[in-house]
Amino acid sequence: FFLQVLLFWGQEPNYDESKVPSFILPDPLIMENGEIVTTKEEWIEKRRPEILNLFETYVYGKSPEKPANLHFEVLSEDHYALSNMATRKEIAVYFTESDEHYMTILMYIPNKRNGAVPLFFGLNFKGNHTIYDDPDITESVTRMEPRDGGSEIRPNAFKRGEASSRWPVEMLIANGYGLATVYRGDIDPDYDDGFQNGVHPLFYKDGQTKPKADEWGTLAAWAWGLSCAMDYFETDEDIDASKVAVFGHSRHGKTALWTGAIDQRFAMAISNDSGCGGAALSRRKYGETVSKINKLFPHWFCENFKQYSDNEDKLPVDQHQLIALMAPRPVYIASAIEDRWADPKGEFLSGVFATPVYELFGQDGLPIKDMPDVDSPVIDGYIGYHVRTGDHDINLYDWQQFVKFADKYLKK
Ligand code: GCU
Repeated sequence: FFLQVLLFWGQEPNYDESKVPSFILPDPLIMENGEIVTTKEEWIEKRRPEILNLFETYVYGKSPEKPANLHFEVLSEDHYALSNMATRKEIAVYFTESDEHYMTILMYIPNKRNGAVPLFFGLNFKGNHTIYDDPDITESVTRMEPRDGGSEIRPNAFKRGEASSRWPVEMLIANGYGLATVYRGDIDPDYDDGFQNGVHPLFYKDGQTKPKADEWGTLAAWAWGLSCAMDYFETDEDIDASKVAVFGHSRHGKTALWTGAIDQRFAMAISNDSGCGGAALSRRKYGETVSKINKLFPHWFCENFKQYSDNEDKLPVDQHQLIALMAPRPVYIASAIEDRWADPKGEFLSGVFATPVYELFGQDGLPIKDMPDVDSPVIDGYIGYHVRTGDHDINLYDWQQFVKFADKYLKK
């Protein structure tokens, strides 16, 4: 069995800093034709679209235009949720003109508010009903999502509130923020099914049966779904759509960064332990690598990304440029020191190497060059960072830092 695991993974992950290869990162400020970007206008008009296109073509895949007939329906609304502290709403976002395919946004909005509120928004892993022990949340019951080695279980196999340690609903409400979430399986179930049962088939051209090599994988589909939700937020007068932070843990952290990249209406992005394909630099090959992620999760990225397995130096981009696509908007990167699989140092360095782009805007990116001590958050610049004690997870400590960071930019 052990041998099989080794074969499957290719090789043991590298956790030895001295074995990190030397590498040259693509410079965010040098155009593909060699021209140097020196102004924010050049960044906005030329270099940013160029980098975005490289990520679309070779990493996440291009997503279709959002349908013109995207429509919304408020499914439930309760002004007395959370012991009268919050209003809970559930909204269906229909992906096509029919009412067949939709995702359900669950949201809590503080009742104590002066006008529209800023919002934290992100995907959940196991269903809307798992984020908080509230009997009135509609259970997510979408398509099959096999997990843990292929056993098939539905989101309604998960208990109400079982993920609540990751979702400090009361704390966010008390701090004046709304919170909204979507079960990712509503957009595309997280397994390799040849792209048959998520949103992908809704957008196939005649005769098409799977995405082309440069078209959306699952992470891009999730990001596309979050961007559809933004269309709804713009119609909801309880929400200040110009102050929405998209966040995510792990695979959803990768998604949050890509969402902020493709949709600049999001005012902030927060990546928690997002690792490979998220905030971590691919060229470090520390912990999870491009080859490992492509083997373990062949559906996450576009088909073109597979050519960079064990071939990271040929990647036309690296993940610091994904952070740079947030500029001049604030972005927060969070790591956990024991989460070596996600390469905390590689996540930190992405912030360092994205900083020159923020400087074009006259802003501080990440104002330090060496990793801070554990549990010493750096939240002075437009790129925030912390590495906390502990392992792969998102917990109250992480959230307390996100709120401090968001207070600076979303409470103005
Ligand atoms: C796996 C995967 C990571 C991912 C993580 C998660 O560990 O290899 O890339 O971030 O799952 O989503 O929890």
